Amino acid sequence: MTAQILDGKQLAETLRAEVKRGVLAFVAEHGRAPGLDVVLVGEDPASQVYTRNKEKQAKEVGIRGTLHTLPAETTEAELVALLARLNADDAVDGILVQLPLPKQIREQTVLDLIRPEKDVDGFHPVNAGLLASGRPSLVPCTPRGCMKLLERAGTKLAGARAVVIGRSNIVGKPALQLLLAESATVTIAHSRTKDLPALCREADVLVAAVGRPEMVRGDWVKDGAVVIDVGINRVEVPGTGKTRLVGDVAYDEVAERAAAITPVPGGVGPMTIACLLENTLVAARARVAAR
Ligand code: GUN
Repeated sequence: MTAQILDGKQLAETLRAEVKRGVLAFVAEHGRAPGLDVVLVGEDPASQVYTRNKEKQAKEVGIRGTLHTLPAETTEAELVALLARLNADDAVDGILVQLPLPKQIREQTVLDLIRPEKDVDGFHPVNAGLLASGRPSLVPCTPRGCMKLLERAGTKLAGARAVVIGRSNIVGKPALQLLLAESATVTIAHSRTKDLPALCREADVLVAAVGRPEMVRGDWVKDGAVVIDVGINRVEVPGTGKTRLVGDVAYDEVAERAAAITPVPGGVGPMTIACLLENTLVAARARVAAR
C-alpha cells in the first residue's frame, strides 16, 4: 500500500483563507480587527521562529498580531503584570504565552491567569474541563489541526481504534477528548506503557506526539492505518554537519503500510498556526456576543 500524503500546508492555506473571510466580516460589523497578543519569554530559537510565524500569519489574515518579547531573566511577577494588562485590554481577543518558559516562572501559575475567554491555546483548566465534559470552547490548536487532517482524509472515526502516544496537556490529552467525541475507542500510550509496538499495531488511527525522532517504526503500524505525526525533531545528518527535521514516525517505513500519513515538515505543523488564527476569530466573536 502506498500511503496518501495528508498535506497540512495546503489544508492550512484553505483554513487561513476561510479565517481571512471571517475576519473581514468581523471588521465590517464591529469596526475593529480581532487581536492576538503572543508573549515570548527568553531566546529559545525554535520558540522565536514559532512566535514570529504566529504574529506574521495573524497579520496576513487581517488579525492585529502583536508579539511581546521579554528577556530570559523576566520574573514571574513581571509576566503576571503583562498578562493582567492584556486580560484587561478590550482590544485583545487572544493571548498566547509561548512554552516552554524559563525555569524561574511557574508555567501552570501563569497559564491559569489568562482569562479563559482569551485563552486561544485552550490550555486553561476551564477550557480543558469544558472539552472533557463535551462542551468544547477554545480547543488546543495542535490536536484540533490533527482532527481537521483526519476529517480531510475521510477517516471513519466512529468505532475506530485510536492510539495516541503522549499524554501532554498540549496534545495527547486534548487529542483523546476530540477522538472520543467522534466515538473512537481511544487509548493513550506513554513512557510507562508496556509493549508499545503491539498496542500501536491495533490502531486504525495512530497519533504520535512524544518528541522522539522516528520512534514509530514500520512494523508498529497496521496495514491501512491512518498515521498523524505531531513530532518536530531536529536531528543531525551524519557526516554533513547539517540538520534536518523529522517527526516521531519513521516516515518511509510507515508510508509503506499506512493508508494515509502526515509528512514532517508540512503536516500537522502548519495546521497548528492556522487553528490558532481560527481560535482568535472564535474568541473575538464570542467576546462581542457576550457583551
Ligand atoms: N510550545 C510548543 N507548542 C506550543 C503551543 O501550541 N502553544 C504554546 N503556547 N506554546 C507551545
